[in-house]
Amino acid sequence: MAIQRREQWSGRLGFVLAAVGSAVGLGNMWRFSYLTAENGGAAFVLLYVAMTALIGLPVLLAEFTVGRGARKSPIQALVHFGGTAWRPLGALFVASGFLILSYYSVIAGWTLRYSLVALVQGFGPQAAERFGEVATGWDAFGFHLGFMAITIAIVAGGVRKGIERTALIVMPTLFVVVAGIALYAVTLDGAAAGYRYYLQTDFGKLLSFEVLHQATGQAFFSLSLGMGAMLTFASYLSREHHLPNESLVVGGADFGVAFVAGLMVFPLIFALGLSQEVGESTVGALFITLPTAFGEMGMAGRVVGFVFFVALLVGALTSALSLLEVVVSSAIDAFGWPRMRAALVAGALIALLGVPSAWSTDILGVFDGIANNVLLITGALVLSIFVGWFMPDPMAEVSAGAEGVRWFFLWRTLLRFVVPIVLGVILVLGLPDTFVSIASLF
Ligand code: PFF
Repeated sequence: MAIQRREQWSGRLGFVLAAVGSAVGLGNMWRFSYLTAENGGAAFVLLYVAMTALIGLPVLLAEFTVGRGARKSPIQALVHFGGTAWRPLGALFVASGFLILSYYSVIAGWTLRYSLVALVQGFGPQAAERFGEVATGWDAFGFHLGFMAITIAIVAGGVRKGIERTALIVMPTLFVVVAGIALYAVTLDGAAAGYRYYLQTDFGKLLSFEVLHQATGQAFFSLSLGMGAMLTFASYLSREHHLPNESLVVGGADFGVAFVAGLMVFPLIFALGLSQEVGESTVGALFITLPTAFGEMGMAGRVVGFVFFVALLVGALTSALSLLEVVVSSAIDAFGWPRMRAALVAGALIALLGVPSAWSTDILGVFDGIANNVLLITGALVLSIFVGWFMPDPMAEVSAGAEGVRWFFLWRTLLRFVVPIVLGVILVLGLPDTFVSIASLF
């Protein structure tokens, strides 16, 4: 039998940075800060950490285990371990990748545009009107296409030469920039009010289902879970890797960047007394309030604004690579296409699916809601049942490279009972809200 050669990461650092690159993105800087602002500050952060630890990390380890074990793209990996009955779950993963990247790239297109604006002219006082003009229509579509073109070009370059190399360069830069802006923000007047707003806890909200629902959706979105992205990345790993350690590093880095991004965003907003505008819309904090702040800060604002939006842009890019890779690797495995063709065809279809989001931020918001509150939660729910109950010997798979770890039974118990029950309840109770948001479009 011919041995199929599969691409591999060059080593641990390449894989970890690519996986962290997938996790760290618009979710950490855009979604995390507005959800925290809307949902009770530190109360939301606490719930988010709890859901990440209890539900997110076990599912992340499950994705790593299936991916590395099968060394195949998501659909084939599930069929490999479970037979054809599990094909629909793989198909759901690929469909989620399609949908998420289609609107994610529209938002990334805004960050591309804002980076250029900061570079060539700086931000003026009319940030809100400007955002209204560029957020939708041909402008938005053009930058969405530009962003998709970059994503396609890198994914077409391959796992090591495209995705890994990009992550190796941009991720360390992104950490430095985010930490640097957060440190700069300490020096601003009003920083204290920003921290207070961010970290002050409205414990009443801890009991709200809505907040729990949002925190869970965010935990999955932020860790890139529930749609096979981490599974796909792990399929390029060898069996020596210690999967539990990799999960902890990825989860820790993802939370770290989100948390520090909050330390960067809120003081900037409060330094200029713009707090009332934060919670107004899902896009408000980043694309309206912050540019207004940068515009009022003169030259310093222009420099900080530029590095801020470039950081957002590269964060979005490394996440988009993983979204596209799910679809591309599936097309390669399913149709035997060369990588270049798979990247072009999948990328073009996704770019087209971005049209509704590029013309309406309401539609974009609904897509985001469907993806997070339904698709990712469903994907993670079914995957945890698969690994918990149906996959033959997941304990042997996960133990390879991690001999001596004694708590795998705990992992399996979480996957068997806790994760499916919690996610099942959240999914069902959350459905009415999702329907209402879809109906509001009509
Ligand atoms: N984790 C990314 C973020 O926080 O921006 C978004 C994402 C990437 C979600 C890849 C899902 C995914 F498969």
